[in-house]
Amino acid sequence: MPLAFVISVLLALPVCAADLPEHRITNIFKPLATPAESEKNIALLVFAITGVIFVGVTALLAYTIWRFRQPHNSQQQEEPPQVYGSNQIEVAWTVLPILIVFVLIGVSARVIAAVENASPPQAALKVTIIGHQWWWEVLYPDYDIVTANEIHMPATRDGKNATYLQLQSADVIHSFWLPQLAGKTDLIPNRINYMWVDPREPGVYVGNCAEYCGTQHANMLLRVVGEEPKDFKQWTLNQQKRSVDEPSTKDGQAVFASLACVNCHNITGLGKASAGSKFGPDLTHLMSRQTLGSGVIKNTRANLRAWVNDPQVAKPGCLMPSMKLTPDELTQVIDYLETLR
Ligand code: CUA
Repeated sequence: MPLAFVISVLLALPVCAADLPEHRITNIFKPLATPAESEKNIALLVFAITGVIFVGVTALLAYTIWRFRQPHNSQQQEEPPQVYGSNQIEVAWTVLPILIVFVLIGVSARVIAAVENASPPQAALKVTIIGHQWWWEVLYPDYDIVTANEIHMPATRDGKNATYLQLQSADVIHSFWLPQLAGKTDLIPNRINYMWVDPREPGVYVGNCAEYCGTQHANMLLRVVGEEPKDFKQWTLNQQKRSVDEPSTKDGQAVFASLACVNCHNITGLGKASAGSKFGPDLTHLMSRQTLGSGVIKNTRANLRAWVNDPQVAKPGCLMPSMKLTPDELTQVIDYLETLR
């Protein structure tokens, strides 16, 4: 416990932009949401039952080996007496395991049903998440918001305002996993899967893709930002805005709009060039996010510059190429991107 505490303090030191505690320890034994908690409880029950069986069987085995070993000085060569057909023992070792298996099946089925069959109340927040190689597209259909890699939702202390997630994939199979909030759910092409989470404390919950999906699978990181409802409301109001048309960044806008950037990235407010592009993350509010490249590096000016200059350095194999900008063009583009707050 003290060691875990020290580690958690050390890891929590770089406080994130939103000033929320960061739950960096992706520990399934420290659940902070209802699905994760019921799954932890059932895991402990299964561990306990199978643990008792393991200890019992091992102890009996050890005792038998020791008790019935052949003494050193024994000259006895013939077989020991063979015993057949004890009805009591045979019934016991048949019925008991069957009962144990049915208990395990029963409690598992109950938890699975409770987690999977919960249907969203009318007012619940609904979020659509689309897995891409190697980032997460995040849509709020009721709010008309498109963002990426960072999922904002209200924290709900009483568990009454869960957020319902609709999971899809644009390419291969991914798996959505936030260990402190819920178990894994796959994102499968041409199929919609559902799950829900109810983060109990405000904070940043980290997770990752849990199904190998190509070169940068390990860098397909996730952040759920659980916020006070009023902060969440504030966030939605900001995300719904168009990008500001800052006259001083006209050059950067022009460079951005003239390049293939606009084929992949939408910036609402930039004009027709980028409208509706969905191949890469939406950049309309790029600077409101804490990380770049789906969690690979922190979102700072220096990192953003390095990223745009050549994304292959921070995330080799990712689908964004270097645009080979001159240093001046790079500065103009970064100046422009920094206004996307
Ligand atoms: Cu996406 Cu692994």
